[in-house]
Amino acid sequence: LDNGLLRTPPMGWMAWERFRCDIDCTYDPKNCISEGLFRDMADRLVEDGWKELGYEYVIIDDCWVSKQRDDQGRLQPDPTRFPGGIAKLARYIHDRGLKLGIYSDMGSHTCMGFPGTTLDKIEIDAQTFASWGVDYLKFDGCYSNPVEQMLGYPQMSKALNATGRPIAYSCSWPAYLGGLPPNVNYSLLGEICHLWRNYDDIQDSWDSVQGIIEWFASNQDVLQPAAGPGRWNDPDMLIIGNFGLSVEQARSQMALWAIMAAPLIMSNDLRNLDNWATAILQNKAAIAINQDPLGIQGRRLVQEKSHIDVFWRPLSNSASALVFLSHRTDMPFLYHTSLAKLNYQPGNYMVYDVFTSSTVTRLKASTDFTVSINPTGVVMWYVYPQQQSQRLHLHHQQHR
Ligand code: DGJ
Repeated sequence: LDNGLLRTPPMGWMAWERFRCDIDCTYDPKNCISEGLFRDMADRLVEDGWKELGYEYVIIDDCWVSKQRDDQGRLQPDPTRFPGGIAKLARYIHDRGLKLGIYSDMGSHTCMGFPGTTLDKIEIDAQTFASWGVDYLKFDGCYSNPVEQMLGYPQMSKALNATGRPIAYSCSWPAYLGGLPPNVNYSLLGEICHLWRNYDDIQDSWDSVQGIIEWFASNQDVLQPAAGPGRWNDPDMLIIGNFGLSVEQARSQMALWAIMAAPLIMSNDLRNLDNWATAILQNKAAIAINQDPLGIQGRRLVQEKSHIDVFWRPLSNSASALVFLSHRTDMPFLYHTSLAKLNYQPGNYMVYDVFTSSTVTRLKASTDFTVSINPTGVVMWYVYPQQQSQRLHLHHQQHR
């Protein structure tokens, strides 16, 4: 959606994958979906260096809403879990220089069975969110049919625009239609939404992450051209820092999400992160690649019989990123190739290794090289022409 918002993919934190629909504030007060959880995460974003790297959205997912609309037909938060109300929470978040996201569902109920936004409620719900100071809406699609969705998703886009408040708009619509044409119209989505969920929900496992990477790569001819500034494919949340990924697999998720120009929206417990997880999520080079201003989504270039995939993304200033991903489960694999074999023009390049922070000086396009890729891991490179000194560009990452 071309209205000046989300010219680069959104970055932030969202409750769903890690905290789900935990509404048990009696036995689990620290982790239940409640205003305290979102204040805690906002505090962590500000105090632990996330905000200055660009992680700015704090996004509420399902299970925040009360079972009853108020007497004027407006959604209201659950009174015991959000006693201060959403407007007050928004103030807390804005006071810290962050932005608040909220969740609703195009349909009679949310996926977890709370009140949804039926067609006749779209306007009032958009107005309510704007009046609270909401900056981002995730609009889910349970309990509606394709005809209602075809009406509702564009209507919500109009209704948000009519509030006059800049509100980023995330549409789950394509995920409910199988994610591919002819059921999904990506040019329409690009006109009405800033981002959209294309595929299955992420779970806390490498299996899930790998399945998502595979689906996006297999369908890249459809998906890759759909993305650009203000319109992003969303392969779902970053699960780094939870229980399911090894260090190698966490790097792989970060690398692929950067290459895919995906939203960097974490769902983890920022109060309890291992140092290695923080280092991966706060990797400045990976973030700069993800946030590149050209906003061109990367592609899988090669799929080797040896179970190595190579991904490539063009970046501004004639730079590019490469990811070598191993689907092997035996031992580190020595992969031999050259930049020329990966479609690079003749010339001399500089290579910066994103996760080891070492610069390999001067690599000629025609020169064969070898990378050692760990099982289910990646090697990620930032590549730039030798003539220019664009290393600076990476280290002076710009902020919005
Ligand atoms: C389905 C969505 O895809 C998930 O991300 C999450 O929002 C759940 N619904 C909540 O019920």
